[in-house]
Formats: sequence, C-alpha cells, structure tokens
Amino acid sequence: MWRFFPQKNKYVQEEAEFTFDSNRAIPKHIAIIMDGNGRWAQNRRLPRVAGHKEGMETVKTITKHASRLGVKVLTLYAFSTENWKRPEEEVSFLMQLPVDFFDKFVPELIKENVKVNVMGYTEFLPAHTQDAVTRAIEQTKDNTGMVLNFALNYGSRAEIVTAVKDIYAELKKKDASEEEITETLISDHLMTGFLPIELRDPELLIRTSGEERISNFLLWQIAYSELFFTDALWPDFNGELLEMAIAAFQNRDRRFGGLKK
Ligand code: IPE
Ligand code: IPE
Ligand code: MG
Repeated sequence: MWRFFPQKNKYVQEEAEFTFDSNRAIPKHIAIIMDGNGRWAQNRRLPRVAGHKEGMETVKTITKHASRLGVKVLTLYAFSTENWKRPEEEVSFLMQLPVDFFDKFVPELIKENVKVNVMGYTEFLPAHTQDAVTRAIEQTKDNTGMVLNFALNYGSRAEIVTAVKDIYAELKKKDASEEEITETLISDHLMTGFLPIELRDPELLIRTSGEERISNFLLWQIAYSELFFTDALWPDFNGELLEMAIAAFQNRDRRFGGLKK
C-alpha cells in the first residue's frame, strides 16, 4: 500500500518501490473510488462540503493526466445509490457539483478531446443536475479521445438487478431459451455496455482514503481488475500518485487463472 504523509507531501510504498514507465502498458480502463473528501475537510476544520469542492479540482487534474497518458476510459465513482443516506445539505451540494464542474470544465474537455459519459440512475437526480449532465454529454459527443465516465447515482447491485430484468423481458419477448444467457449478454446489459467489449472492464481499480472495500462499485466488471489502495485522501491525490498506481499495475503478474508468463 502507498502511504501518504501530508506533512512531507510524500507517498511511500511499504513493500516495494516501482518506477512508472510510460513505455510499458498503460491500463486502458482505470476506475477510481474517489474517497476521503469529508476527512480532508475535517482535518482542516472545514465543513465536509469544502472537501467535495477541492475533490472536484482533483477530478480535473486526474482527467487531464490520464488522458495525456493514453488511458482510454476513466470511470469515476462520484455518487453511489447509498449516498442518499447523507444529510440533505451535503446531498444537495453534491448535486450542484456537476453543474459547476461541467460549466467550467467542458471547454477544457473539448480541447483535450475527452468525451463525457454518465452511468447511473440519472432519472432520480434533480433536474438541474440532469440538465448539466445532458449538456456535457452533448457538447463532447464528437470527441474521439478518452471517455470520462462518471458513475452518478450508481450502485452495482441495482445495476445487476436492472440487467437481469431487461434480459428476462427480452428473452420472453423472443420466446428464447435460457441458453442465450451468456457472459457477453450480461456484460451488454450492464451500464458499461456502451463501451466496446474490450474496454468495459477496468484493468486497474484505485481507491483513495485508506478504505479497502468496493462499496458496491462495478462488481461484475472488476472480476480480474488489479486493485490499488492508497491512504491519500481524494483531494490530495495527484498525477504523480496516479503514475505510482500505474507503476504498481505494470509490476503485477496478471495470470487470469493461468500460470505465470
Ligand atoms: C467521497 O468522499 C465522495 C463521495 C462519496 C461523494 P467522502 O464524502 O465519502 O469522504 P469521507 O469518506 O467521509 O472522508
Ligand atoms: C464510495 O464512498 C462512494 C463514492 C466514492 C462515490 P463511500 O464513502 O460512500 O463508501 P463507504 O460508505 O465508506 O463504504
Ligand atoms: Mg467516504
């Protein structure tokens, strides 16, 4: 695990040190559980929402950095189906964030050739949030570079339930047999199904803030993802640490159930 020392502004790997090599494989799809905004703010005696605001700046930095490294898809967990449990004040701040974020950042996204997508139960978001999302998708739809995929009101169990219901309805309509249910069919019906099949599953999953859990994120898609946990709180995460996560990835032996290469 990478430990972050805010006073020294330094990341230290506990077991081994890897150096990032831009000539080695860069994960095509990186997913990030952006956690620790509240703690970042509380550490500074600020209200939790100040952490979310600062976290938005990290999203900009990491988007540009990942895009320049040649990442094809960056999936960011921004709001879970369980985050509605938080105080109303915090939830409404989080619902305003995409509006501010896209308003200011879309011109840069266009410059960077980044295409925005949002996956999740967006129909339950407030109207102004939905509008901001729809606008950003529309404004970046012709971009051909990295896909910046926000998981907004996303939960993987709900996603799987929806997929199973859709598959059931389709098969019933066609009077098809259960033999048609395959891994590809399931993958097609998940919220990552809009991506080409080889890009749907993240190769690298990063979680900040020291928590080592998945919190209902991409349960199907991370079957063989490399996991990287860091103590850094999301507002402290930066390009250097992203490269360290990739360096760790580059030094993993991905066997997929087979034997060492
Ligand atoms: C992550 O930061 C952002 C969201 C879940 C929206 P948190 O708000 O969970 O921050 P901590 O975990 O309380 O520090
Ligand atoms: C996961 O973080 C959700 C997002 C980052 C959007 P949480 O802070 O909600 O997760 P738990 O509650 O610590 O598992
Ligand atoms: Mg959290």
